[in-house]
Amino acid sequence: MLTRIKNLQEYKNVYAASVDDPESFWASQAESFTWRKKWDKTLDWDFNGPDINWFVNGKLNITENCLDRHLETRGDQVAILWEPNDPNVPTKEYTYKELHAEVCKAANALKSLGVGKGDRVCFYMPMVPELAIAVLACARIGAIHSVVFAGFSATALADRIKDATCKMVICSDFNNRGVKHIPVKKVVDDAMAMGCDSIEKVIVHKNTGDDLNMVEGRDIWWHDLVDGQSPVCEAEEMDSEDILFILYTSGSTGKPKGVVHTCGGYMVYTAFSFTNVFQYDPGDIYWCTADIGWITGHSYIIYGPLLSGATTMMFEGVPTYPDAGRFWEICEKHKVNQFYTAPTAIRALMAKGEDLPAKYDLSSLKVLGSVGEPINEEAWNWYNINIGKGNCPIVDTWWQTETGGILISPLPGITDTKPCYASYPLPGVQLVLMDSEGKEVEGNNKEGLLCIKFPWPSILRTTYGDHERCRQTYFSAYENMYFTGDGARRDEDGRYRIIGRVDDVINVSGHRMGTAEVENAINEHDNVVESAVVGYPHEIKGQGIYAYVIVNDAVTDDDEFRKEVLKIVTKEIGPIAKPDKIQIVSGLPKTRSGKIMRRILRKIASSDASNLGDVSTLLNPEVVTEIKEGALV
Ligand code: WTA
Repeated sequence: MLTRIKNLQEYKNVYAASVDDPESFWASQAESFTWRKKWDKTLDWDFNGPDINWFVNGKLNITENCLDRHLETRGDQVAILWEPNDPNVPTKEYTYKELHAEVCKAANALKSLGVGKGDRVCFYMPMVPELAIAVLACARIGAIHSVVFAGFSATALADRIKDATCKMVICSDFNNRGVKHIPVKKVVDDAMAMGCDSIEKVIVHKNTGDDLNMVEGRDIWWHDLVDGQSPVCEAEEMDSEDILFILYTSGSTGKPKGVVHTCGGYMVYTAFSFTNVFQYDPGDIYWCTADIGWITGHSYIIYGPLLSGATTMMFEGVPTYPDAGRFWEICEKHKVNQFYTAPTAIRALMAKGEDLPAKYDLSSLKVLGSVGEPINEEAWNWYNINIGKGNCPIVDTWWQTETGGILISPLPGITDTKPCYASYPLPGVQLVLMDSEGKEVEGNNKEGLLCIKFPWPSILRTTYGDHERCRQTYFSAYENMYFTGDGARRDEDGRYRIIGRVDDVINVSGHRMGTAEVENAINEHDNVVESAVVGYPHEIKGQGIYAYVIVNDAVTDDDEFRKEVLKIVTKEIGPIAKPDKIQIVSGLPKTRSGKIMRRILRKIASSDASNLGDVSTLLNPEVVTEIKEGALV
């Protein structure tokens, strides 16, 4: 049986045991799953490679564990509960039996097109049940899914398709978001025109049924392909370390990289963390509001909950449609027990007042979760009082695309909670704080760079197609450690507070972005010579995007120029990357070796320009005064 921690003493014991003998601990967790063949060795690892292998030579299929394993005990229980964008459209439910059948049909459909083990399949879909079904269908036949958030642009989609040389794209016709019908397939068509030569077929799920252009020989309707298939499909036998999926995420340099997760360790860790962090009891209705295009949706809408036999809800819409009470209306309607969302959503809904949540019966709620960015004290308190009514522990969960699952979080009702603190590491997670000289920061009440000194089962294995980049980014900063890129503080009782990124990654509305990516997009504008992008504190989004831009020819119409830049960023990345502020400058502060002094730019953007430190050693100190005077703050 998977360990389900019940009280503080047990947390302490389990944590101690997991550090004392990680292999025995994780082997005992892994025992509770269905394996075609048991592993020979629990762990083989070397962070210098990195070369990390969990459950060595174990054979399994994750969908047998998500689906088949539950058929006898809870075949008629709802597995996926789908709430549509439009509250007047009926909810859809798939029991474990039905989901199993749908996944098998989709798996057979993919097979009929020649998709097999190791092939990459790209997804570009809204939050419809078919997305979860098709993702699981890939896993069933051993194909690797690469889900791209459907808010990314055609250019961004094409980049990801090419990087993973995907064989197929699965998309929908349109996306229902609030009052909008967003053309999804059109974006795929545009991406295809950018030389995605590896793509053989585009499978189109009919969501809204609006008019569409289907390309003959290439495009196939999902229903034509799937409807007639057999609901039985033998699962492919996978090695523990075979790739389950690729998910692209932004870093401080270059293009987004494809984080790779493998079958065995990811399965064990997502199930273990789900069960413990949400204290999920049979019969509970669990709702995570994330999009499946992000890691939170992968691990805590699909895999973690289904592995645990939970009822997991998928929501198609947005928190503000038909009004800003929608989340609470849904909580009441489905008697949600665990609710998991992002601070940016809480802040946006907080701004609409307390009357909206007060209209609904939220008494079913037991646990509230937060993820993706630091939650500020005001939002934490509002969430606690107005949604949890003071009765629901808030789990502020810290983790990353690369970690696969939640690594730091309170355990509700078991460990205490404190605003702004993700609190304590989960069992098996060995955190350390490091200083910039490479020494460990010991003791409490200290700050440092957050690292992890021992592998946990769902740690990333590589970055797709570029292993050296993975080593450089995560395993080279400190010897024998995984470097998170976050700064953290350990309080007097050993709780962790995440301070934020220490690299050039920004977090806008919980969406992770590299400043370099946004700069590259802005630089595509004909009149832009150079740009520098930094984050600044933003009341709702957590961080906003501030761009400093040098132009060739003087700009006569500021507004027009702004619009052009926003358009280019939307085209290159997507609307989520649009700068909030654009300041035209004559130069950027640079060191004598030509490096942009982002620290100065960050301070100016954050209205904190009073103490910029010594700028006299800069190549061009005079530009600092100019930038300060023209700052849009
Ligand atoms: C940030 C999202 C503070 C952090 C699951 C991390 C957080 C990055 C928290 C990963 C939290 C995530 N408190 N910061 N509870 N959770 N972060 O890959 O900077 O989209 O490095 O994964 O989000 O973002 P990603």
